[in-house]
Formats: sequence, structure tokens, C-alpha cells
Amino acid sequence: MATIETTGLTKQYDGLTAVDGLDLEVDREIFGLLGPNGSGKTTTVLMLTTLLRPTHGSARVCGHDVVERSARVRERISFVPQDMAVDIKLTGRENVRFYAELYGIRGSDRVDEVLGVMDLADRADDLVRTYSGGMRRRLELAQALVHEPEVLFLDEPTIGLDVAGRQAIWTHIQDLRRRGMTIFVTTHYMDEADRACDRVGIIARGRLVAVDTPRALRHRLGGERVSVVTDRPVEPVLAEGLHLVDGEGDRLVYHVDDAAEVVPVLLAGIATQGARVRGLEVQAPTLDDVFLALAGRQDDGGAFDFQRFRTMLRRRG
Ligand SMILES: Nc1ncnc2c1ncn2[C@@H]1O[C@H](COP(=O)(O)OP(=O)(O)OP(=O)(O)O)[C@@H](O)[C@H]1O
Ligand SMILES: [Mg+2]
Repeated sequence: MATIETTGLTKQYDGLTAVDGLDLEVDREIFGLLGPNGSGKTTTVLMLTTLLRPTHGSARVCGHDVVERSARVRERISFVPQDMAVDIKLTGRENVRFYAELYGIRGSDRVDEVLGVMDLADRADDLVRTYSGGMRRRLELAQALVHEPEVLFLDEPTIGLDVAGRQAIWTHIQDLRRRGMTIFVTTHYMDEADRACDRVGIIARGRLVAVDTPRALRHRLGGERVSVVTDRPVEPVLAEGLHLVDGEGDRLVYHVDDAAEVVPVLLAGIATQGARVRGLEVQAPTLDDVFLALAGRQDDGGAFDFQRFRTMLRRRG
């Protein structure tokens, strides 16, 4: 039995279906749930952590139903919410000790251990007020680890951190996975998900549209990513075979099936606007491209030709 199993998991908020029939199995891996703002990531995590009751469907975590056996589930999991707050008027150690007491853990060994695991031992007795954003996030992780959970849920663990801070968090998450923990994480950072997650699920408007390893998803999409930089802002060139991923000002990014065939069309379209090309790059697709192809943007219905790529992924997969 997988650590996390969902069957038709659904949440409706009067009229709005935030999570729509999620079927998923996650087991001893780092699973990344990726989706645009408002696609249902936090709602999913809240149901799996017993904090929100599903409207339909069910979920089991560590073999226990999240509704029927919510207390059992809570004993085995930990959750670091999207906007968790540590108490900045306390020291790091006091914050962790508070959690330990909540879980009935006595003595200071475990508190010291998790502070050490999160590289906070030498700052443990400083007020959290003096911590950087990255240190506060690591402190939240330390708190979450204090009762030795089997499953860790993290909602946007690296948001707002600098590159080094984000890397540190992922290194810790990967260490935990190596020790056998199941980690369910949401993120907006595709490059991080690509490097760190064993598998990712892409959610759009509450529906899971793809689940696979990052590598397999990139390969399934196929084609090439073409980026062009111009000497002045231009209107995106729209033509057959040119699928706009991102177009703002003097930089246009496309996903194309065959760069050799469509790049001349693109260059001609830029030339007719009286602009010059300052840079052109053709690369293999990234997880960003896959994400945009599948999820688009929640607000504008997707810059990509959604239907076309759904068909494409189905065909290649
Ligand atoms: N308590 C609530 N009442 C009504 N609607 C809600 C509630 N919570 C969330 N929603 C709606 O459900 C949808 C999914 O929200 P959710 O917070 O799960 O998205 P998300 O993927 O976590 O977004 P983000 O990336 O911005 O964190 C959104 O349309 C949101 O407005
Ligand atoms: Mg969220």
C-alpha cells in the first residue's frame, strides 16, 4: 500500500470545484505538485493533512483514512503550511521545544537533534527575530521533524528565499527522503522541481493533468524551445508552428516542433516590425514548457494551445 493514496478526491467551495477527482499514489519519494495560482495545490494538501474535509472521494495516508482516522494520520505526518509563522520573540530552540511539548516529547535530545539536522545548532539560542528568511524556513522544518513523521507535507517551502536558501532547503528535503521519508511538496519553481523531485504532478483547475518523472515529461513534450531577444519591444510573432510560451517586450519564447522550419518565419516577422535580433537560442524543452503546455495560466486560460499539447502528450506517452 502506498503511503498516500487518493481516490476521486474532490473539494467544492460553494459552486467552485477547487480539487476535482484526484487519483494519486505517492510512496517514499519526493513528489512535487505543480500548478498555477489557484489551481488547487493548497486545498489538496489541506485535505491530505486532515485540515479540510473532502466533498467527495477519499484519501488514505499511512493506511488511514484522512476523515475516519484523522487523529491516526496526524500522528504520522507533519505539515509546513504556505505561510507558517514562527514566534520571532522566542529563540529557535524555544520554538522547537514548544512543538516537542505539543507532541509530548520530553527531554532536549530530540530538540537538539532537529536543530542540528537543519544547521541551526549555533544560532539556536538567538531570537528568531534575528534570523534570515532561509533560517526561519529551516526552523519550521526543524519543528515539523520533531516527532519523527513518516510523511512531510510542505506547501511552497522555498518561496521568497534566495538561490542559496532554496538550495539548502532542497538539500535537506533530499536528505530526509534518503532516510525513507515520503515528501509531498508544492512549488512554483519548475527548475527546482526538475532537479529535486522524483515525480511531479501537474494540476490545472483542480484536475491532475500529468504525473511522471520530470525527465519523462520533458521528453514526452519533445520539440524545441526558441528564445529571441530584440533591440526594441516587439509584438509576438504568431504563425503556424510557433507556440508562444512567453512574450514580453524585447524577449519572445516559443515552443516549436522544428526550429529549422519556423525560425526564418519568426525572424521575418520581427524584421517587418523594424526591430533587429540581438540574440537567438534553441534549447531542449524545460519543465517550464511542459508546465505551460499542460497548465497554462489559471487566469488567461493558457498562453499555449492547451488542447494541442494535451493531444501531443497523450500521443507520445
Ligand atoms: N476557503 C475557501 N473558500 C472559497 N474558495 C476557496 C477557499 N480556499 C481556496 N478557495 C479557492 O479554491 C481554488 C484553489 O485554491 P488553492 O489555495 O488550493 O490554490 P493553490 O494552487 O494553492 O494556489 P497558490 O499557488 O496561489 O497558492 C481557488 O480558486 C481559491 O480561490
Ligand atoms: Mg497555495
